[in-house]
Amino acid sequence: MSKQFDVVVIGGGPGGYIAAIRAAQLGFNTACIDEWKNDKGGPAPGGTCTNVGCIPSKALLQSSEYFEHAGHSFGDHGIGLKDLSIDVAKMLGRKDAVVKQNNEGILYLFKKNKVTFFHGRGAFLRVGDAGYDVQVTGATEEVISGKHIILATGSNPRALPGAAFDEDKVLSNDGALRIGAVPKRLGVIGSGVIGLEMGSVWRRLGADVTVLEGLPTFLGAVDQQIAKEAHKAFTKQGLKIELGVKIDKVTSGKSSVTVTYANAKGEATKLEVDRLIVSIGRVPNTIGLNPEAVGLKLDERGAIVVDDHCRTNLPNVWAVGDVVRGPMLAHKAEEEGVAVAERIAGQHPHVNFNTVPWVIYTSPEIAWVGQTEQQLKAEGREFKAGTFPFLANGRARAMGDTTGMVKMLADAKTDEILGVHIVGPFASELIAEAVVAMEFRASSEDIARICHAHPSLSESTKEAALAVDKRTLNF
Ligand code: FAD
Ligand code: NAI
Repeated sequence: MSKQFDVVVIGGGPGGYIAAIRAAQLGFNTACIDEWKNDKGGPAPGGTCTNVGCIPSKALLQSSEYFEHAGHSFGDHGIGLKDLSIDVAKMLGRKDAVVKQNNEGILYLFKKNKVTFFHGRGAFLRVGDAGYDVQVTGATEEVISGKHIILATGSNPRALPGAAFDEDKVLSNDGALRIGAVPKRLGVIGSGVIGLEMGSVWRRLGADVTVLEGLPTFLGAVDQQIAKEAHKAFTKQGLKIELGVKIDKVTSGKSSVTVTYANAKGEATKLEVDRLIVSIGRVPNTIGLNPEAVGLKLDERGAIVVDDHCRTNLPNVWAVGDVVRGPMLAHKAEEEGVAVAERIAGQHPHVNFNTVPWVIYTSPEIAWVGQTEQQLKAEGREFKAGTFPFLANGRARAMGDTTGMVKMLADAKTDEILGVHIVGPFASELIAEAVVAMEFRASSEDIARICHAHPSLSESTKEAALAVDKRTLNF
């Protein structure tokens, strides 16, 4: 007799582990299966985000930013340092320790919430008597059965045709987080989120970084006023960004990699680098899930087809996170995971995609929520815009970090906030106020009338709101 559960979650990344915890909180007998292994072969729940994504990348961004400050801006504060050096092995060790803390934290949360954890791969076996039978293969080998199944199997990096990842010279996000020594020359294909974050890490540590982007526009999904400001800052820092290229081929030599491509003018060009990061997007992952066994429907991209409520084509089978449509973000996966557990319990939650914030953790940081100016124009919607530069903010000046601005877009008639776009210090934290405002359908005047602490970066959000009505006080 197989073990019976009310809810079986396959995948223990942010979508899966959060869904499992919420389901258990709601009183369901819940199991979570995750196959990620740590370097000793033990369980490492947390998925891409914890193991090779959000967490380790932010650990390296922090370390490399401290290094850059020590080398370039401490002097302005009168702090003198001699013989500045970077111990890459130690920096990577610290990152690994942060990852381990998070893995262990999730195992602890499973115990605390009475979620049964299986370390191994989960695959559909058949439609069973009491739901679905799932074969677990790995450290534990058994068949378990779930009345409800939540699929949260995540995504994998997309390789360039003809240039498979070897994680030595041609690197995915995984290898990009494990480079053992600062490369002299680093190439990056794709100036998206990973390309900019990982390119920034290794540039700060001393690599000569060239980013090759296929599209003619830099950060096309970002409000273009913000993207232009960010492009200016990255270029000033020494990141070389070539737009509108067409990659021809990637050839790995003994100690280097050569990228042959046509530049924006169509001229044949070569770039020789010591390491190459390929960050051209990610693909939904259903490898080993055996969807055919139960007739689970996938789309042409390999994503599991779901409706607005994360229901698949099968009764009581749900899917969340990177393996379904929508932005590939950890917090989006988590929101969907919670919502599915609550729907199984008969509740009526709602995930508002329009208020899912985006953050790029470069320096300056880029963060936004809602619609961009380009989107509003394309829709023909009338809007008012207000911007406020950090240059005019007292706290930013005191910090010595005045790059960027806050930009607010509001409906021309109702004044409802339609989008907030930030490039600058702590944009990742500042965006939370905008998300709350938009969730409560606030107007720009609401933000303009709220008291913000002085001196704080958040005063720039208030000033941007005042700017919507052309009445900034400090600019
Ligand atoms: P995943 O995190 O991919 O988890 C899926 C899990 O399922 C994995 O552990 C996998 O091993 C397991 N699995 C798959 N198939 C099976 C199976 N058949 N049986 C058992 N287990 C299985 N997002 C942000 O919001 N902020 C960031 O700062 C950020 N930084 C990122 C940096 C990088 C370098 C990368 C690559 C991504 C980053 N992301 C970030 C994106 C974020 O990591 C993903 O959106 C998020 O991890 C998706 O969560 P998920 O639960 O859907 O899938
Ligand atoms: P991305 O979609 O952000 O960027 C990919 C870039 O590669 C795009 O600019 C695209 O035009 C370009 N590109 C695609 N094919 C190309 C080609 N053949 N030649 C040259 N350029 C090409 O994807 P990325 O950076 O791989 O990240 C994947 C996802 O992971 C992100 O979309 C995001 O959802 C998530 N992520 C989120 C982070 C965050 O929230 N801070 C950090 C890192 C990743």
